[in-house]
Amino acid sequence: MRDVSVVGIGQTKVKEHWNKSLRELATEAILAAMKDGHVENVDALYIGNMLSGELTGQENLGALIADEAGLRGIEAMKVEAACGSGGAAIRAGYLAVAAGAYDVVIVAGAEKLTESSNCYTTASLAMAADADYENVHGISFVALNAMLMRRYMYEYDLMPEDFAMFSMNAHANAANNPYAMFQSPITLEQYNRARNVSDPISVMDSSPVGDGAAVLILMPTTSLNGNSARAIKIAASAVATDSLSLHARRDPLWLSAVELSARKAYEQAGVTPHDIDLFEVHDAFSIMSVMSLEAAGFASRGRGAYLARENEITPKGRLPLSTMGGLKARGHPVGATGVYQAVEAVTQLRGEAGKNQVIDARVAMTQSLGGVAANAITHIFTN
Ligand code: COA
Repeated sequence: MRDVSVVGIGQTKVKEHWNKSLRELATEAILAAMKDGHVENVDALYIGNMLSGELTGQENLGALIADEAGLRGIEAMKVEAACGSGGAAIRAGYLAVAAGAYDVVIVAGAEKLTESSNCYTTASLAMAADADYENVHGISFVALNAMLMRRYMYEYDLMPEDFAMFSMNAHANAANNPYAMFQSPITLEQYNRARNVSDPISVMDSSPVGDGAAVLILMPTTSLNGNSARAIKIAASAVATDSLSLHARRDPLWLSAVELSARKAYEQAGVTPHDIDLFEVHDAFSIMSVMSLEAAGFASRGRGAYLARENEITPKGRLPLSTMGGLKARGHPVGATGVYQAVEAVTQLRGEAGKNQVIDARVAMTQSLGGVAANAITHIFTN
């Protein structure tokens, strides 16, 4: 297997893009990444997306986006792993370059969630869960996470306020990210007063619905064609799965797929959790951040929330999280999100993160989850 590096990045702002189609968003980010990476010729395109068919009536994104971006003729296909689709697309692109099949690969993530009513989008997002055993009862994806948060709070004797710092950190970081959906910090009072979505999850514990596209350009580390100065290596790429439905898990409060994929990634990169300088965690809900920190080895069982309470997750803390706003405040256009996380990790490792720069960042980890962590896709990047 060959080593793989990221040589170009591109992204659109996350927001309600009512005047841009999915193909336009994806193409905008692709052209930005090709410019950033000084790349003109591309061998293949893998595009992460979850709901284009359901919400915009458009599948076959590979051919569509390749053509729109002026790349007609290349290998191109959609990769789907629910909210982890972006991470899965990176995995596909990584494997294609590492295996020697291609030398220049575009990994895109693109999603348009605001094309339909919020109710319809909510019902569509629930497709990430088990249709036969969960969705059939009408439960939303937020409600599944709310059940976990309720159980977690009961088991470890916590209050909703114990989760507040995750949201406050994300919003504070997004305020300095021009591509983020929400650009103002929030106070503890705003967190406490936030309207309820599915008890105990409030709007401030939940990622929003938005549109956007993000792109990476991958090349073999040994032939960077003049791109070596700003290239960032993918030191590990690992995927693991768990049961799709929550009830089939022996221990619903433990994210096994997160543990397995993180462990594989640490092994491949030759690092431990202590070596990670920043973690783009899948903070779709604050409970997911807490449980991911535990399963990935950053906190012991039941102690994930304490990491935030002790102020360790800000850009100046021991383990900076969601450094450009995370899913919570940069926004979560589901199939694009894993690629946004990677773009942000690369930005940090290039030293280009502005006010949110993590000092001396050398090792960054991203984790993209599909369903309630039924798939976990972990990548580790180094400069
Ligand atoms: N955090 C902060 N503010 C939010 C927000 C969030 N997550 N979601 C919406 N808002 C704000 C909007 O900006 C808007 O503010 P404004 O009135 O100042 O313009 C206001 O709340 C109303 O927005 P709207 O889109 O009508 O909210 P909603 O109540 O319909 O939806 C949620 C809010 C949280 C229910 C919705 O975003 C949601 O379902 N999120 C979860 C999506 C999900 O499951 N993703 C997959 C996870 S893997």
